[in-house]
Amino acid sequence: MFLKTLVFALAAVVATTVSAPVLNDKGLLQLALTIENLENAFFSGGLSRFSANDFEDAGYPSWVRGRFQQIADIEATHAAYLRDALGNDAPHACTYDFGYEDVSSFINLAQKIESISAGAYLGAARHINSTSTLNIGATIAATESRQASWITSTVLKDQPWDGAFETPIPPSPAYSLIQRYISACPDSNPALPVVELPTLKLSDTTPKAGQKINLWFNSSAPSPLYAAWIHGVNETYTNITTGRTTVPHGLTGTAFVGVVSSRDHPDRDNFVSGWAIVNFPFDSKARLNTR
Ligand SMILES: *[C@@H]1O[C@H](CO)[C@@H](O)[C@H](O)[C@H]1NC(C)=O
Ligand SMILES: *[C@@H]1O[C@H](CO)[C@@H](O)[C@H](O)[C@H]1NC(C)=O
Ligand SMILES: *[C@@H]1O[C@H](CO)[C@@H](O)[C@H](O)[C@H]1NC(C)=O
Ligand SMILES: *[C@@H]1O[C@H](CO)[C@@H](O)[C@H](O)[C@H]1NC(C)=O
Repeated sequence: MFLKTLVFALAAVVATTVSAPVLNDKGLLQLALTIENLENAFFSGGLSRFSANDFEDAGYPSWVRGRFQQIADIEATHAAYLRDALGNDAPHACTYDFGYEDVSSFINLAQKIESISAGAYLGAARHINSTSTLNIGATIAATESRQASWITSTVLKDQPWDGAFETPIPPSPAYSLIQRYISACPDSNPALPVVELPTLKLSDTTPKAGQKINLWFNSSAPSPLYAAWIHGVNETYTNITTGRTTVPHGLTGTAFVGVVSSRDHPDRDNFVSGWAIVNFPFDSKARLNTR
C-alpha cells in the first residue's frame, strides 16, 4: 500500500515536471541569454586557448582566427544586450564543458552552436508576444545564421545554406541541444520555460540517406516511437525499431532529429527525447529542392 502511494506520488511529481511551462517573453529572453552566455564562453574560451599559430598549424590562416574574434565580440554584444533588457531577471553564465580538443574540433562545434542558436531564435518567434522583441530576435537570428554560414562554407568548404528555409527549433529541444555542454549554473538563475528532455545520441551524425543508425536516449516511453527529422519547415518521420531507424532522403546541410511518440508536428505533447544535430554536407554541384 505504501509502495503504491509512493508510486502514485512519484507519478504526480513526474506529471508536474513534464507539464508544459508557460512561454512568455521574459522566459524566452532568459533562454536566449542562456544560449548567448554559452556562445560567449565558447568563443572567448576557444580563442584564449588557441593562438594564431595553433590555427595555422591546423591549416587555418590567421584571418580565420580574426573572424572568430569578431564572432566572439558579437556574441558578447548579444549577451550584454539581453542582460540589459532583462535587468535583475537576467540569468548568469554557467560553467561549461565543450569537450573540444583541438582547433578542428573547436571549429566543428562552432558550426553546430551557431546553427542551434539561429534555430532557437526562429523557434521562439512563434511564441513571442511583443513585436519589438520579435524584431530584435529576428535580427539576432539573421546574424547567427550568417556566422554559421561563414563557418560552414568559407572555413569548412561545405554549403553556405541548408535549403530555402532555416530550421526553427522549439524552446525545449533548443535547450536540450545546449544542455549537454553545461556543467553547472548558479542556483540563483531563473527556471527556464523548458521541459528537460533526455539527451539523444546518434551512432553517426553525418549519415547518408537510407543508412540505418542507432539512437540512444534514456526514456521508458512505450512503442511505437518515431524519429522526427526537422529540416527547414519540413518534418519527416521514420519508424524506430529496437533503437534503430533509417535516415530519410531529401535532407541537405544541417538538420535536426528528435524522438517523438506520434507523427504529429513535434511539440511538447509528443517529445520523448531532446534533439541531436545531423549534417548532410553538399557541394556546389548539388541542386536543391526549392519548393
Ligand atoms: C502581450 O502584449 C500586449 C501589448 O504589449 C500586452 O498588453 C500583454 O500583456 C502581453 N501579453 C503577455 C502574455 O505578455
Ligand atoms: C543513460 O543513463 C545512463 C546511466 O545514467 C548513462 O550512463 C547513459 O550515458 C545515458 N544515455 C544517454 C544516451 O544519455
Ligand atoms: C512504420 O510503422 C507503421 C506503423 O507501425 C507501419 O504501418 C509502416 O509500414 C512502417 N513504415 C516502415 C517504412 O517500416
Ligand atoms: C519533406 O521531405 C520529404 C523527403 O524529401 C518529402 O518526401 C516530403 O514531400 C517533404 N514534405 C514537405 C511538406 O515538403
